[in-house]
Amino acid sequence: MSALPHSPAAHAAEHAERRWAQIVAGIIALLIAMMVWTGVHWAAMPPSRVEVVDPRTLHQHGEFIEANLGTTVDAQGQVTVRLVGQQYSFTPQCIVVPADTPVTFRATATDVVHGFVVGRTNANVMLIPGFVSTFTTQFRQTGELLMPCHEYCGTGHEGMWARVQVVDRNQFLQQAQAGRTVSCVPR
Ligand code: CUA
Repeated sequence: MSALPHSPAAHAAEHAERRWAQIVAGIIALLIAMMVWTGVHWAAMPPSRVEVVDPRTLHQHGEFIEANLGTTVDAQGQVTVRLVGQQYSFTPQCIVVPADTPVTFRATATDVVHGFVVGRTNANVMLIPGFVSTFTTQFRQTGELLMPCHEYCGTGHEGMWARVQVVDRNQFLQQAQAGRTVSCVPR
């Protein structure tokens, strides 16, 4: 038998339902506020670290001019790889890195969002025009790895990839000490 419209039971049920409606409305309002906050705030400031670069003048001056792309070793022995992604290739197309050595990648994109992963390693990053992506990793085994673009960037996406040659550390340092740009072994 159901409660009468004005019985104490009906009154209590209505009261409980109204309270739940208020709680749910509060949760929805909180979630919308979080979406607006993260959308507005993080759109102006992407997560982790932020280093900006002007994609319009990338080729003319600064860190990512063509002469700077590839692998370098500084006076402290720090190995840095600089590369640029564009529709539909990476520059350089082939990268040499030493095995068992910390290698810092610094990369950006000129046109749209690209990304890359090196073989089956955890070297995996997105390249966003206007921002410098960077990470440091070590390669354990020598050999050649494929480095495909992993962000859909247009009709040529499938054909966008580079090679990474992981070479013996001493062999790499000899080549670097000769003052040459470290370049891929011809195949
Ligand atoms: Cu570049 Cu997909």
